[in-house]
Amino acid sequence: MGNRFDDTFLSDVRERSDIVELVGRHVKLKKAGKDYTALCPFHTEKSPSFTVSAIKQFYHCFGCGAHGSVFSFLMEHGGLTFVEAVEELAHSAGIRVPERVAPSPLEQAEQSRRSAMVEVLTRAATLFHQNLRATPDAVIYLKSRGFKVETILQFGIGYASQGIVTAIGAAPLDLLKDVGLVVVNDDTGECRDKFRQRIMFPIRNERGDVIGFGGRVLDAREPKYLNSPESVLFHKGEELFGLHLAKQPIRQGRIAVVVEGYMDVAMLWQHGEPRAVAALGTSLTADQLGRLYRLCDHVVFCFDGDKAGQKASDRAAHVALGQMVDGKTASFVTLPGDHDPDSYLREYGIEAWRDYVENQALPLSGKLIEMLKRNRDLAVPEDRAAFARDGVETLQTILHAPTFRDALKTEIERLASMNLRLRAQTSGATRPDRGVQLEGSGPATGTVAVGSVAGPQPTSGRDVFYRRYGLLMALDVEAGKDIPAALLDEFSELIAGWFACAAGEAQTRQESAQRIRDAALRAVVQDALRRCTERTAMLDAEALSRDVDALVVSISGELAQRALAQQAAELFR
Ligand code: UTP
Ligand code: MN
Repeated sequence: MGNRFDDTFLSDVRERSDIVELVGRHVKLKKAGKDYTALCPFHTEKSPSFTVSAIKQFYHCFGCGAHGSVFSFLMEHGGLTFVEAVEELAHSAGIRVPERVAPSPLEQAEQSRRSAMVEVLTRAATLFHQNLRATPDAVIYLKSRGFKVETILQFGIGYASQGIVTAIGAAPLDLLKDVGLVVVNDDTGECRDKFRQRIMFPIRNERGDVIGFGGRVLDAREPKYLNSPESVLFHKGEELFGLHLAKQPIRQGRIAVVVEGYMDVAMLWQHGEPRAVAALGTSLTADQLGRLYRLCDHVVFCFDGDKAGQKASDRAAHVALGQMVDGKTASFVTLPGDHDPDSYLREYGIEAWRDYVENQALPLSGKLIEMLKRNRDLAVPEDRAAFARDGVETLQTILHAPTFRDALKTEIERLASMNLRLRAQTSGATRPDRGVQLEGSGPATGTVAVGSVAGPQPTSGRDVFYRRYGLLMALDVEAGKDIPAALLDEFSELIAGWFACAAGEAQTRQESAQRIRDAALRAVVQDALRRCTERTAMLDAEALSRDVDALVVSISGELAQRALAQQAAELFR
């Protein structure tokens, strides 16, 4: 990435800013001992679980897991980019902002290409929208689908008539091609609009930039929807339709609704459910779901009642399973008949929708068991065996939610009337054993064994370092202060800050860790807490304190060595 500030400048800005003063400008702080508390500005709550530490210069919320420094506060709360946050803080502190480390010419070129692409797409969206007003058929169609004017405006819905894009004129052809608005015939060189006679839904990224379109026909032409092709701006597996509008409500309510269609998102919004998003004409990916879990704890999937909807919902259950960590949940709603959320809302209204979702949602465990039981008769031993085998496969994919895995295991065992044995976690860097073994035991209850389920393994020396540093902080925050602060980087500071804020009972720390939003930080902290528990269970006080001392020495040594190596490298620059 270009546009980097140099490190000295960044630490100057950090040192001359005060988190208490900054946060205090936005929320009402109350002094509590050395720290301050407040109602969390990142989620709705009645009693304060948000703390700000003047000493550590961090904020931390025990309710929703929001955590960070002055920079992240301005980014998360004020919606600024990193660069903007730094500039604002520097400005308040009266520090002159130096020239940024210049981006390479290649980075510069890429950046300006992306800006040009967003600009041409935004212009097209405006044109489509204006064109909608001039096309009675399209307006009548939207009316017939129950659209109110405010929904059309909020989503920026438009209409592409024949030849409209080429009417943009001023934009160079290769730009129109890159963003997928124009298709060029390779043989004849002939250009034509990608979208013709279609209702146009602009697709925006989380920030609200237009990055593509979905276009629906007014009649029975095929395909019903046409979507922009992938581009450097538009990655279908990463973006979610409606996220820029839904983000804040999702965060506030700690819940998100995933539906299949653009229409569903728009109609839910119109009826007062603004927390809905949809995938972009492809099935939901782990990336997309991960984005939602960073904003909330509970994702409700509500796919169409038809065959395709059930398939999509089954697939989503597998994706959710891979993403599960204890403390997060998913549930699944199957609409009656062939309804989708849009048609259900139009027929029964929002109150009926809310009731239905509340009463008919299956928790992830229930959904998985329903899938395992489907087309099987558990009174038949063969079916029961197959059920148990598939159950083991399912359990194996749950890597980061041990409590959930145990609960689901118990339920599968009860239904299969046999014990499934999950082998204990092994330490080392062994990959989870994917094999399923059926251990011969008594005739009545077989035992199905599952290989060790290990967490993600560190991939680089840096990760190993963070894990060790995290362990040290988990064991003894005070001892952590012996590590020379000047040698720590931003991420280590985040780790230290988390442990400083979340001191206390193991149970509380565990729960608080589940709510950390930053995936990398969460992984390090959870790993540290797990290993800390193992150690405290195994070692007596004296052995533990020797262990801590050894960690301090080796971590300091490693950091000093790294600093030396860096100085040496700089000498030769
Ligand atoms: P649906 O067929 O359920 O459409 O497809 P819909 O959103 O309910 O629209 P209406 O109510 O029939 O007007 C769900 C989603 O699948 C993608 C689109 O993203 C759509 O919103 N899709 C569907 C396509 O990409 N291409 C298609 O041909 C059909
Ligand atoms: Mn529909």
